[in-house]
Amino acid sequence: MRYGHFDDSRREYVITQPDTPLPWINYLGSEAYFGLISNTAGGYSFYRDARLRRITRYRYNNVPLDSGGRYLYLRDDAPPAEGGDEGAFWSPSWQPARHDLEDYACRHGLGYSIIGSTYRGIEAQTRYFVPLGDNLEIWQLTLTNHRSEAAHLSVFACVEFCLWDAWDDATNYQRNLSIGEVEVEDAVIYHKSEYRERRNHFAFFACSGEWAGFDTQRDVFLGLYGGWDKPAAVERGRSFNSVAHGWAPIGSHHVRVALEPGGTHQVVFLLGYHENPADRKFDPPTSSLIDKAGVKPIIARYLEPENVDAAFRALRAYWDDLLAVFQVDTPDVHTDRMVNVWNAYQCMVTFNLSRSASFFESGVGRGMGFRDSNQDLLGFVHMVPARARRRILDLAATQLESGGAYHQYQPLTKRGNDAVGANFNDDPLWLVLSVAAYLKETGDGSILDEPVPYDNQPGSEQPLYEHLQRSLRYTLDRLGPHGLPLIGRADWNDCLNLNTFSSTPGESFQTATSKDGETAESVFIAGLFVLAARELAAIARWRGLEEEAHTYEAEAARMETGVLEHGWDGDWFLRAYDDSSRKVGSRECQEGRIFVESQGICILAGIGLDGGAEGKGPLAEQALASVREHLVTPHGIVLHQPAYSRYYLHLGEISSYPPGYKENAGIFCHTNPWIMIAEAIVGHGDQAHDYYMRINPSAREAIADLHRCEPYVYAQMIAGRDAPTHGEAKNSWLTGTAAWNYVAISQWILGIRPTYAGLQVAPVVPSNWPGFTATRVFRGVTHRITVERVGEGNDVCLSVDGVPVPGDIVPLPPKGQTEVRVQVGLGRAQG
Ligand code: GLC
Ligand code: GLC
Repeated sequence: MRYGHFDDSRREYVITQPDTPLPWINYLGSEAYFGLISNTAGGYSFYRDARLRRITRYRYNNVPLDSGGRYLYLRDDAPPAEGGDEGAFWSPSWQPARHDLEDYACRHGLGYSIIGSTYRGIEAQTRYFVPLGDNLEIWQLTLTNHRSEAAHLSVFACVEFCLWDAWDDATNYQRNLSIGEVEVEDAVIYHKSEYRERRNHFAFFACSGEWAGFDTQRDVFLGLYGGWDKPAAVERGRSFNSVAHGWAPIGSHHVRVALEPGGTHQVVFLLGYHENPADRKFDPPTSSLIDKAGVKPIIARYLEPENVDAAFRALRAYWDDLLAVFQVDTPDVHTDRMVNVWNAYQCMVTFNLSRSASFFESGVGRGMGFRDSNQDLLGFVHMVPARARRRILDLAATQLESGGAYHQYQPLTKRGNDAVGANFNDDPLWLVLSVAAYLKETGDGSILDEPVPYDNQPGSEQPLYEHLQRSLRYTLDRLGPHGLPLIGRADWNDCLNLNTFSSTPGESFQTATSKDGETAESVFIAGLFVLAARELAAIARWRGLEEEAHTYEAEAARMETGVLEHGWDGDWFLRAYDDSSRKVGSRECQEGRIFVESQGICILAGIGLDGGAEGKGPLAEQALASVREHLVTPHGIVLHQPAYSRYYLHLGEISSYPPGYKENAGIFCHTNPWIMIAEAIVGHGDQAHDYYMRINPSAREAIADLHRCEPYVYAQMIAGRDAPTHGEAKNSWLTGTAAWNYVAISQWILGIRPTYAGLQVAPVVPSNWPGFTATRVFRGVTHRITVERVGEGNDVCLSVDGVPVPGDIVPLPPKGQTEVRVQVGLGRAQG
């Protein structure tokens, strides 16, 4: 069944049934204050860092899964004449009270969610969003009385505060149950645990409306043994005005609303975060009371409905501007809505959150991944080039002098994470790819000269360009017995741990390396190296460093030869050599005979595109035919086949998962676009788009009960054919799948690609598409592109502003011209 539908014109997904198979969530915030919000108003908020500055508490592993959030309760204080009892209460977002609401709808939009319903003739709509430029979230509640008589309602709003460090909050009770502190002043609840000592920040929860009371102690509000579904204060219709000392501080407001028949009324709630200067924390200075001079004007501003409306309009305009950079109109609705709205949006969310906070990432774990964030950048650099620049410099500053890189860093401190460390040998190469993407998009070569430290050590600064050189060097300094790159702890596949040999339960497969790492090699890294070396050669050439360009090209060619000699298995690219130099991903293997990653990355690097032996066609074509034969399922392309049926000490985590899940032959969606791109590179538009559709979330909306995750964003994984739940998605939102699918569809299938010389238009689209149009803002110039199929194949006949242009790159127009019309005849015209 379907749980909702796309509202394309409003750029919203409308969920019409609250009990979706999993929480279907959205993100609030685009700068520093962020929140996750589910379709029943569940989720939590934080400032910059989901672990270190958690504002509201959330319990993972909860039952039901989606409990705890931004809860509102409505209560009939006087019995309506037309039946029903006094004291009846409900939650307009369904959770936590879970009544049978009428007209329930959750509209997830770009940076906001609107949750509405009607119950007992009272309509309630709440718009949740974070205004640009401020560190708070707004819940704008509009109540409408559809009864034929007046309604006397109570509104209760509630959040549970987190004691800032989400990990400590969830574990360190012997301390935490004694430190909770609040202040309540002028209908504002201030959460200030630890403010008395080293923290300069606090949270606030404010409301407009006729304030009738408050609670700040959870057990008082809920009642002993009470749950969120039946808080004691709501049941009795009156707050207790409890002041938290220790235990579990919450913020709850009680507001009374009287509504004439047909009447409507708005109540605004604000939940926010504020930092005071260290020397102006207290007022009076010798007290432990918060100095509220800085925060009060902010609260006052957003309690005014006009200002809230204006902030909402500004947010919409912000997203319209971002998305306007690239818009398409194709014959396929699923392509359009993902490219124009949802995929781009998801790319921005991965930019902001990396892999930190979702309903599958706990927000206390992984921070910003070096490999992940560099790839994410490919999907958003065109929308926020200035922020992409900053991100590249932050990432590069966690690189080590060896050229290696910290695998992760913490977003608040921007420091590499020592617990995980380095030695994922693919990591540094991704930096070359992100920088190349930035340069092609912006033409801003100055970034290459930026001094960037290693390991954030002052004094170690070198130009970014040097960092890129060291990235390549890092691989070349670590070659194995076949001249292929050593894999280290893992390559892109975090679970291919060829040096770990772990037999200790619970030990981290990634950090428990027990071998010297001098033998196991990765064909994937070899392919990635060739790709990165060719990108660096192009950068060097663009800077006029012809000799260096030659050097990198020669290194790439040498590695390519190595791959052809030692990385080709007969019908496909090998995956690796293990610690005993046995093949991984070879026909010689019993299990794990063919892997997708090396097919994808080697072809992206240009390996095996020409030549080919014994009338079999180029190796790339053979590899893709093997993918089709062995790895493709109706739900996407699995990582490898056959799945590992048991745990193999010498392979590591990959064989720890039950067959068909995650890295053990799951459909790891991140890798599917590599194959789409590879198919586009060899000119197979039908095949490329077919693979695109298999994992396209909008196209999978029709099988929501199987897919289960949100139909508007990609999930990291879909269970593979060996899994009993084949087709079921998991780990939605924070995945490199977002950026890579965006790249695959926009740059390779639709073929609109930034290059140093201008915007390239080289579509490889399905043969039955009559054409498509696109608008792409590139280096300040709006390209209005019309592609029209004139015959079979992918030949491009280009004209710009009516003038034929050789090749497929639109030259940059003279300075001052801000728009070009690009006409493409696609295919070979007959006769
Ligand atoms: C996770 C990681 C990513 C890795 C992938 C495959 O998505 O975030 O870095 O490449 O798994 O193991
Ligand atoms: C687990 C996951 C993998 C992730 C890794 C690193 O191994 O299977 O996807 O990349 O953890 O956190």
